[in-house]
Amino acid sequence: ENDVMGKLPLRGKRVMITAGPTYEAIDPVRFIGNHSSGKMGCELALRAAALGATVDLILGPSAIKVNHSLITVHNVVSGEQMYDAAHAVFDKVDVAIAAAAVADYKPAQVAEEKIKKKDTSMQIDLVKTKDILASLGTIKKDQYLLGFALETQNELENAKKKLEKKNLDAIVLNSLRDKGAGFQTKTNKITFIEKDGSVTEYDLKTKAEVSIDIFDKIAEKI
Ligand code: CTP
Ligand code: CA
Repeated sequence: ENDVMGKLPLRGKRVMITAGPTYEAIDPVRFIGNHSSGKMGCELALRAAALGATVDLILGPSAIKVNHSLITVHNVVSGEQMYDAAHAVFDKVDVAIAAAAVADYKPAQVAEEKIKKKDTSMQIDLVKTKDILASLGTIKKDQYLLGFALETQNELENAKKKLEKKNLDAIVLNSLRDKGAGFQTKTNKITFIEKDGSVTEYDLKTKAEVSIDIFDKIAEKI
């Protein structure tokens, strides 16, 4: 009834999006994290909802507040929590987008008490976190699976490798070569790479505009 103009192409679809950074605890007061703001993922969630989809936004620590009747926000802190939240909804969604900047490593142990300062240097043992997107790629059935790739060298080649390795339908290459693109910025310069090999390059745009371009591509395929 809200779709009289046929403008809600994702009505009846469910979309899952991971977004933001993850924080990996060192001790009760410290963590390893990164500068992701969560903005790109939140814009994607808002775009999906504007197109009529029901959205699960799995959001790491972010200052952004998302308020929309079609969006359920699942707040998480660590990569492990994000992994669990993503796997809890994945089999119910039509589209899954991994826009989060998940920490690649976490402390091998979390100290129970605040670590006291002692010597002039210290080491923290790190272990790899689970790759959420790669795991979804191994269990996916009919879901359209989209990843992001942040590269600083051999961009296209590395992004294509990630698409294949993680069994994705497409990957968004985030180009950091342009000033004004990437973390803590309002704009992104993306290249959309699909598993059939097609490559679409876009101009530097706001993250809201980028989210429109991305869902135009997704809507063609689902
Ligand atoms: N990703 C994920 N879980 C991880 C690491 C990455 O879901 N533990 C997802 C990201 O959300 C992104 C994609 O995988 O959609 C690629 O992330 P990126 O950091 O560019 O690549 P990595 O595979 O982590 O490899 P590297 O950082 O070495 O380039
Ligand atoms: Ca990484």
